[in-house]
Amino acid sequence: MSLLSIDEVKVGMVLNKDIESGKTGAILLTSGTVLNKNNIFILRNLGIKYIDIFENINSENDYLIVNNDIFLEKYERFADRTRLIFNNARFGKKLVVSEIGEIVNEMVEEIVKSNNILARLRQIEEDNDYTFQHSLDVSMLATMIGKWLGYSKVELKQISLAGLFHDIGKVKISDNIMYKPGRLTESEFELVKKHTIFGYNLLNETIGISKNVALGALQHHEREDGSGYPLGVKSKNIHEYAKIVAVCDIFDAMTTERVYKKKQSPFLVAEHIISNSFGILDARIASVFTNNISNFYVGNVVKLNCGDIGEIIYIHKEMPTRPLVKVEDKFIDLLIEKDYYILEVIN
Ligand SMILES: [Fe+2]
Repeated sequence: MSLLSIDEVKVGMVLNKDIESGKTGAILLTSGTVLNKNNIFILRNLGIKYIDIFENINSENDYLIVNNDIFLEKYERFADRTRLIFNNARFGKKLVVSEIGEIVNEMVEEIVKSNNILARLRQIEEDNDYTFQHSLDVSMLATMIGKWLGYSKVELKQISLAGLFHDIGKVKISDNIMYKPGRLTESEFELVKKHTIFGYNLLNETIGISKNVALGALQHHEREDGSGYPLGVKSKNIHEYAKIVAVCDIFDAMTTERVYKKKQSPFLVAEHIISNSFGILDARIASVFTNNISNFYVGNVVKLNCGDIGEIIYIHKEMPTRPLVKVEDKFIDLLIEKDYYILEVIN
């Protein structure tokens, strides 16, 4: 790292550390942000004097290409190994997970050291197989929450696997039901709910998979108040890995576009998670997730419900889902302007 005075900072340099507001502690810009003219202008006006910049990085491209290439190469290996396991499960073969351990470790390392996994996830082309793609996303999101919750790397690997295999039981249910475009009949829905039990059984008989990972599959649709399935168990009987997976499952499903539904803005989904967390989702996990995830969107261009397009420039710590947005030369503070909300993240 190197600490530069604000006068030495140039467009294209990359932040080595999050920049926090001295007054509120809210994160203004996250590490990994490539500075643009606007960022530097705002930092200067906020009275920030020194900035921690990545050393030996002179341009935006150097940093992004090196790091993205390494990440994408690992992601491809991770996806390939996972695909193999899913295909074996689909054909009724026993799961062999010994070959996935190494790449899961590497992905955990990537997530531990990077603050920007979400941006990278958004750059990856979606796979046509929704369950498969969703499993990869949930695995990485769950590992990220586990990191924020302070889990060790050994535990993060288990959380990553719990996310990866939470829906593996779906391979036992016919595609006609799984991907039925219309409403499911009651008996079809009862069968779909059983993916939790099918997954648990499959993972339980797999050598090298811990009981806690299998519980992630069994319990990720259980809810704090006992309103979930398959067993309707309550909070203290739900494993923490399953609680983490539940939050990521909802977030990823709602922010992803499907044939029959449009994706929703991550800010609306985060608000949905917060308002539904009481009694339904684990409140601590939900708030750690929503508080941290919003920070990734600083600098992103968004569309508001009034049609205006602007850039997120400040995340309020007390209400991270309602940031300050700059639209041309005016500021719209969503914390104050309650009628406005973020409809879409454009880039
Ligand atoms: Fe599920």
